[in-house]
Amino acid sequence: MLNFSFQNPTKIHFGEDQIHLIESEIPADAKVLMVYGGGSIKSNGVYDQVKAALSKHTWFEFSGIEPNPRYDTLMKSQALIKAHNIDYILAVGGGSVVDGAKFIAAAALYEGEDAWNILAKQEPVQQALPIGAVLTLPATGSESNGNSVVTRDGNKLPFSSALVRPQFAVLDPKVTLSLSDRQISNGVIDAFIHVMEQYLTYSVNGKVQDRFAEGLLQTLIEEGPKALATDTKEDLVVRANIMWSATMALNGLIGAGVPQDWSTHMIGHELTGSFGIDHARTLSIVLPAVMKVKRKEKHEKLVQFAERVWHINEGSDDHKVDQAIVLTETFFQEMGVPTRLSDVDLNAEDIDGLIEKLEQHGMVALGEHGDISLDVSREILRLAL
Ligand code: NZQ
Ligand code: ZN
Repeated sequence: MLNFSFQNPTKIHFGEDQIHLIESEIPADAKVLMVYGGGSIKSNGVYDQVKAALSKHTWFEFSGIEPNPRYDTLMKSQALIKAHNIDYILAVGGGSVVDGAKFIAAAALYEGEDAWNILAKQEPVQQALPIGAVLTLPATGSESNGNSVVTRDGNKLPFSSALVRPQFAVLDPKVTLSLSDRQISNGVIDAFIHVMEQYLTYSVNGKVQDRFAEGLLQTLIEEGPKALATDTKEDLVVRANIMWSATMALNGLIGAGVPQDWSTHMIGHELTGSFGIDHARTLSIVLPAVMKVKRKEKHEKLVQFAERVWHINEGSDDHKVDQAIVLTETFFQEMGVPTRLSDVDLNAEDIDGLIEKLEQHGMVALGEHGDISLDVSREILRLAL
């Protein structure tokens, strides 16, 4: 196992009807900015619950944070923050809203020339307003990590800072009942691939991390389809298991002390940046190709994945790996997400532009060995056609 330091200070309130707890989590004298997206929280009752919980606070609101939040949109919050001396940000929504809140919180106290440099130049965040979150879409883990992804002019870039990790997060599985099938699938697949990015590398004998990861993968494989099936769709036990899996997939726990890959995500970000494809749907296209192209380097873990997650115990190691890749793709298809670029109407001519973007963004040595050069990324994208 590799050395690591681990701390996750986000307090989680998990379960039904817990939104009222935000009243005691946010300091009574705080001036709160509630930030949200395009209005789903108004139609599913979450907005009213938050409003009731904030009845004793001074609060304002900022809406319109879009999926794959845009810099220009987020910066519009800054005038409101200054005008009302806002000192607490409450994110109510999915990963885009929570990520957006993180950038808003960092930009509010940014003292340099352009807050975009936090992403473009990876300038470390020096200070940020405190954040709380009410999560409505289990997927990203953003509710209890320090990561955020923001888009500007087709450039989708990540930043990370412990200063923007939410202080608390409310996870009520009931609020996920209003999700569309598309968003349910996206969430399950995103969480699944977060686990894979931290698991499918090379062994350092991190047995605890491996077995946590395998448990999360198996839970998502079991519960994901149930959240789409008519007779189990409304089952809150299913929703709860998916929700907690998604948080655990990217809250730092399973990634501590093990090598990490993240090439699927970095290539996927370019597909979203250039073509607007949903985050999870870029990942379901790229991951199978990464598994095939890096099959040799990932061999040991691929065999372990086949045996422990898919229970493939017959045949040669190569056969096990083949089967595991097929079953992973079949699971993605069962969840209704694309597994090829052609499924989203992209073809070989689109690859050059994606490679150029990867180069522009410095994504020239990806993967756990730093050996996914632009040429290897091209091979991955070709195989994904
Ligand atoms: O905007 P509203 O009206 O709220 O609608 C949203 C949005 O249209 C809707 N939605 C959310 N909760 C709902 C709901 N609709 C009905 N009922 C509910 N309960 O779902 C749509 C998609 O929301 P979004 O927040 O974009 O989805 P997701 O949570 O998948 O977040 C994706 C973003 O997170 C980033 C992605 O790149 C992408 O920008 N990621 C963040 C990460 C992190 N912070 O650690 C890691 C991830 O790998 C990912 O990169
Ligand atoms: Zn993701």
